[in-house]
Amino acid sequence: MSGPALPVVILVSGRGSNMEAILQGWRQGTLPIDLRAVISNRPQAPALDKAQTSGVPTAVVDHRRYADRAAFDAELMAAIDRHHPALVVLAGFMRILTADFIAHYSDRLINIHPSLLPELPGLDTHRRALTAGHTQHGATVHFVTPALDAGPPVLQARVPVRPDDDAETLAARVLAQEHRIYPRAIRWYAQGRLRFDGTNAWLDGQLLHEPVVDEEALHAD
Ligand code: GAR
Repeated sequence: MSGPALPVVILVSGRGSNMEAILQGWRQGTLPIDLRAVISNRPQAPALDKAQTSGVPTAVVDHRRYADRAAFDAELMAAIDRHHPALVVLAGFMRILTADFIAHYSDRLINIHPSLLPELPGLDTHRRALTAGHTQHGATVHFVTPALDAGPPVLQARVPVRPDDDAETLAARVLAQEHRIYPRAIRWYAQGRLRFDGTNAWLDGQLLHEPVVDEEALHAD
């Protein structure tokens, strides 16, 4: 690895297992990032304690204290910009962001979503995958644009749906893959291999017409 570490801020709302996977890569030196802060919209998010235990500064911008989305997002932007991140990572951040917020971080805002986008945007993806009878499911890392869960996908992990799955077993299988692919995509970005021009994602100078697909879990057993 070469070059300075990429300044990163992570936004969370809850458990923070994706954040932990990123923290682990950072601690182990496999992710060339400078983790400046973890910010939550929920004061009770377990992710905050986990970040503090690792010595990462934390902040809370509680959405319930703001009159509307615009006011909340303005405060959130101020809290983020104090840390001058080159990449803002949404890791289980469960608030819809305003167009102004997304424009402000237009080429440096990345998310992980628990489905094979463009299939199943929105909430409750595991239950919906089962109800729809899908035989494959997974997770997608994508850049964020104003349309919900519709920004260009970068990296996708596929898992099998098993006949005896319920939403919990399926979610656990997907989550294990999220912990693999999110640090990998962030590493690409930190290494300067991955870019977003506001419309298209580029990897190693090539336009990404489709996400890179990781099928390791499909062939696991
Ligand atoms: C993850 O499964 C992530 O993909 C999902 O929330 C979970 C957060 O878990 N994100 C979304 O649904 C975003 N729309 P974590 O807090 O343990 O990382």
